[in-house]
Amino acid sequence: MSFRTTGSVGVGYVEDVSPGSGALPPRAWYASSDAASLSLNGSWRFRLSPTADAEDDAFAGPGYDCADWAEVTVPGHWVLQQDGRFGTPVYTNHRYPFPVDPPRVPTENPTGDHLRFFDLPDDWPTLLAKGADADAGGSDSAVLRFDGVESCARVWLNGTELGDFKGSRLPHEFAVGHLLRPAGNVLAVRVHQWSAGSYLEDQDQWWLPGIFRDVTLLHRPAGGVRDFFVHASYDHRAGTGTLRVDSEVEGRVLVPALDIDVETGQVITVPVRPWTAETPYLYDAVLATPGERVPLRIGFRTVVLEDGLIKVNGRPVLFKGVNRHEWHSEHGRALDAGTMREDVLLMKRHNVNAVRTSHYPPHPAFLDLCDEYGLWVIDECDLETHGFTEQDWRDNPVDDDRWTPALLDRAARMVERDKNHPSVVIWSLGNEAGTGRGLTAMAGWIRGRDGSRLIHYEGDWNCRDTDVYSRMYADHAEVDRIGRGLDGGPAKRRELPFIQCEYAHAMGNGPGGLADYQRIFEAHDRIQGGFVWEWIDHGIRDERYGFAYGGDFGEELHDGNFVCDGLLFPDRTPSPGLLEYKKVVEPVRMEGDGVDGVVRITNGYDFADLSGLALRWSYDVDGEAVGTGTLTVPALAPGESADVKLPEPPVEAGSAARGTEDRWTVRAVLAGDTAWAPRGHVVAWIQLPISPRQLFGVTARSRPVADGRGGIALGPAVFDARTGEPVSIGGIDVTGLRLDVWRAPTDNDEGAPWQPDTRLGPLWRRLGLHRMRHRVDAVEPGEDALTVRTRVAPAATDLALRTVHRWTSDGPRLKLSVSVTPEGDWQRVPLPRLGIRFGLAAGDRARVRWYGGGPGEAYPDTGSAAMLGRWESTVDDLQTPYVRPQENGARADVRRAEISRGPGLPVLHVESGRPFWFTARRWTTEQLDAAGHLTDLTPGDTVWVNLDHAQQGIGSQSCGPGPLPQYHLPVRQTEFSFVFWVPEQGDGS
Ligand code: GAL
Repeated sequence: MSFRTTGSVGVGYVEDVSPGSGALPPRAWYASSDAASLSLNGSWRFRLSPTADAEDDAFAGPGYDCADWAEVTVPGHWVLQQDGRFGTPVYTNHRYPFPVDPPRVPTENPTGDHLRFFDLPDDWPTLLAKGADADAGGSDSAVLRFDGVESCARVWLNGTELGDFKGSRLPHEFAVGHLLRPAGNVLAVRVHQWSAGSYLEDQDQWWLPGIFRDVTLLHRPAGGVRDFFVHASYDHRAGTGTLRVDSEVEGRVLVPALDIDVETGQVITVPVRPWTAETPYLYDAVLATPGERVPLRIGFRTVVLEDGLIKVNGRPVLFKGVNRHEWHSEHGRALDAGTMREDVLLMKRHNVNAVRTSHYPPHPAFLDLCDEYGLWVIDECDLETHGFTEQDWRDNPVDDDRWTPALLDRAARMVERDKNHPSVVIWSLGNEAGTGRGLTAMAGWIRGRDGSRLIHYEGDWNCRDTDVYSRMYADHAEVDRIGRGLDGGPAKRRELPFIQCEYAHAMGNGPGGLADYQRIFEAHDRIQGGFVWEWIDHGIRDERYGFAYGGDFGEELHDGNFVCDGLLFPDRTPSPGLLEYKKVVEPVRMEGDGVDGVVRITNGYDFADLSGLALRWSYDVDGEAVGTGTLTVPALAPGESADVKLPEPPVEAGSAARGTEDRWTVRAVLAGDTAWAPRGHVVAWIQLPISPRQLFGVTARSRPVADGRGGIALGPAVFDARTGEPVSIGGIDVTGLRLDVWRAPTDNDEGAPWQPDTRLGPLWRRLGLHRMRHRVDAVEPGEDALTVRTRVAPAATDLALRTVHRWTSDGPRLKLSVSVTPEGDWQRVPLPRLGIRFGLAAGDRARVRWYGGGPGEAYPDTGSAAMLGRWESTVDDLQTPYVRPQENGARADVRRAEISRGPGLPVLHVESGRPFWFTARRWTTEQLDAAGHLTDLTPGDTVWVNLDHAQQGIGSQSCGPGPLPQYHLPVRQTEFSFVFWVPEQGDGS
């Protein structure tokens, strides 16, 4: 075939509903042991045009002079390279960022022409030079593979057009052996940002054009392997595995560890160790055809729907999953191997056992890692047409036969590529694509091709095409009803297991309510777990914003920071949400009674025993471990429980060494190094109190007296006689101490725009809680107390909180008792927080030590991971860097906090008889509230401290339900108190 110029027209393929032309049929993705391959990743020459047809295709021809072209890195997205020189990213959740007129796309269609010049390595099989290889059964002697190009590409090699394709996150291969030359090869790829395929790729993420996955030239030797399908099942009754490898090119299958050496297509049954996500046992094997050897890693496992349950190897599984988009804050969806591994390791270390590859098949190397380390995978097809919801799903491609070939092509490319991964247990047809015949066709095709896995699609509430009833963001009550089988629905659905393919929206601070969901999941067999939305924030690293989100690139239509809703921050630091999830889904459950000294241990794994774990105890006196040791782990099968006796406490009852609070902390840790974490890594833990906390008081012995300088002295403090506010405590200046009810609303407080009118952020602002006024009604020095009466209220309403601050002192210590009485009709709206706040002059050397929950933040419904102990941090490190600033950083269950403003300076101590919430930051709540990005926050010279009696829960209303009622902070008459003192320097008490 010779080079042909199509001129400035010839771009019809862009808006063609067909999947493309010229590509080879899809097949398994594998690496050969002996066939050569050449990575074409690296620096490519690049030219960007504003429209699909602005330039003709002369660039693909021989001898084209591209000297003045730019360069881009492949894999990569051109909009993320060279500081916006090639355009910028666009973020929309479900709305198409172009007029909806399928399959037409805008004339403005950024088009990137790419050129890559390459020579074949000296050792590249000479056979190629001879051209097509007839012995290989008519196939070509080399294949060019694209693992991912967004959204549509047309390809030429050495001037000959190979074809065009769509299906951004799916592989496409072309036969090229007959076109290759030993040197001076020219690969030309024209990539269009928008195409008919864009209508099928409306996932909630950045639109990022480019060749974003590998490009590889693969030698295909004569008699080489082409496609093959490893069928490896496990019979849990017999303990045997049955293997059959179907191969397009016949050969032999060798599994040395099992003494297997059989022909392809032959069935063999032998005793094996099964594969599960908990015990990911893989057998190294080889598929040998006359011309090639391909290494295989075989996992024996059987997935069935039986008794209305998803069972693997005969046992039901409970998914403790996450939804994973591919994301890197600098490279977008172009992920390197290290990043993929990091994701898998982070998942394993946080007790995650399952991944839904939302909403497209991931880079295939990720699935290799899932096989190796052990994760259950729902592999989802690259399909979403959510934007059609804006027009009541009219013209939805999944219900239009013209698009069905494209849908089937996508299904086939996913299944064929990924069919040999034991980790993949469920195929998902796609996400949020409405309903229609196209989906049914996909399901039918998949079932025909691979009967060994189940089919998922959330949009199919009738479960017409699916094997599992799946929903997203169903609230706790509904999930419980479903668990009890009280949800009704069509007959088929009632017979099926249930999962939440998305729940617990991890946007900003949160998600709240995870532990409550988990209890429901574990209470009902029918509920087989869920997948938190989502794994990582898709923030883009940016000098101006720190991490950019929707709108930061001036998009005319965007969905703001809704793209930052992950359990990891964009730089892959775990957020408090991930630590919470780790605790909530820990696979060993412990409960017990510290006084009796008994811990009941339950093996919460579905398959593994506890032999990989060790139990370590510590005996803590007021948060300090005074004794440690180990316990024998009982040999428990999955689901079994046993009681383990703790040793005698190392501190005798009644002895002076006992504290006001003694407790056991028991940790289940890895007994030895594993592939994913070292020995000693904590998998699960519990704390069991022994002695109840003793309350202490401050006996009012001091009398407030005028200090002669317009102030009132009481114990260690001096007050402003007009405002009644303390101006110093123990010589430390204090400013602005007052009742505080405001927090910078979290994304979950604000709620998604489509949520009902119960969203708290907007309600709070409507009530005016962010602009409360503080009227001083009385400052009353008394016999043994200073009483300050205030009325705290927003403008324009008669709502108020009448507040009485009663200050007393026993000499060195100062006690504040606050009583709050609501006035007016608060319309049952809970308060954001209830406590006091004040400022201390301090800079970046301010530190805090506390005895309470830690080390990280916690809120009423996100506090499972807070462990009682003694913790220490700089004030700066107390902040949780949510990409969009919002309330964060509270430490829960605090008994005592010590705030140090810098080395050598007096330290303010705060204590309370009732555990409180502690927060400190170097900006005000108002500044936090006003900030759009972390870079908007400039630390000042005041550390603002909040001591809260109570906090409103967090919930998940940025997409799902709000906090459960028990985590609400109702407006009602309330009393609370704090004790302050400043020890003499050197007095560590
Ligand atoms: C779901 C959707 C996800 C994401 C999420 C909200 O509806 O499937 O892709 O948009 O909501 O973050």
